[in-house]
Amino acid sequence: MKVLFIGDITGQSGVTYVREVLPSLIASLKPDLVIANGENAAINGRGITEQAVEHLYDSGIEIVTLGNHVWDQKETQQLLEGDERIVRPANMYPGAPGRGYVFCDVNGQKVAIINVIGRTYMGLYDCPFRIMDEILEEIHKCTSFCIVDFHAEVTSEKLAMGYYLDGKVSAVIGTHTHVQTADDRVLPHGTAYLTDVGMTGPRNGVLGVKKDLIIQRFITQRPVRFELDQGARQFNAILITLNNKGQAISTERIFIAE
Ligand SMILES: [Fe+2]
Ligand SMILES: [Fe+2]
Repeated sequence: MKVLFIGDITGQSGVTYVREVLPSLIASLKPDLVIANGENAAINGRGITEQAVEHLYDSGIEIVTLGNHVWDQKETQQLLEGDERIVRPANMYPGAPGRGYVFCDVNGQKVAIINVIGRTYMGLYDCPFRIMDEILEEIHKCTSFCIVDFHAEVTSEKLAMGYYLDGKVSAVIGTHTHVQTADDRVLPHGTAYLTDVGMTGPRNGVLGVKKDLIIQRFITQRPVRFELDQGARQFNAILITLNNKGQAISTERIFIAE
């Protein structure tokens, strides 16, 4: 089974670039499942809207994961309650709207997609390691095919999660930092790992935002109103190949840009 995982799709730029690039990429790579992190897919890059998510589905994305921007748009709560193809971080407060993991049928094989968020420099969330233990106890009753989006800031927390879940899930793919790292590999017990898959959207901003605004913010230490860069675009993803036990065999990072 081949799984394509696309990094944080950001703003209208990211959504339109996905629409342009993804259909031909699907035709050439022939993935069995396409997942994308959509926490920045709203027009302004903050959270996700129904309109944005429909564009992602139209482009060939089947499951959308989220992150710390989950509540940035008013309509998201309703979206999460009604749409079983969207996953929000599992380690939020008990009873939060939506789902921390979902199942997807891929050619008759049940696949679980889990979204979990880190704690270091990220805010107040339950322990992502303990929540993974709880979730996997349930999921492993019905499938060993599990793809984890670990939405976290620091490389150490992400790598620690990779090793913690090695042999228990098919893949641990990092999101949130928007810069693709070059450390993809299959860990010793068969879990595909990548610290960060990168972002899809503006290429010449700082994590998607106009670079001059961010430079000013660092120099003056004053708050600035974020605006997304509108120039050249990039597409970042990873293709993971699994065997029939749900273990990873190989990984291939994908980078396309204008
Ligand atoms: Fe993001
Ligand atoms: Fe994020």
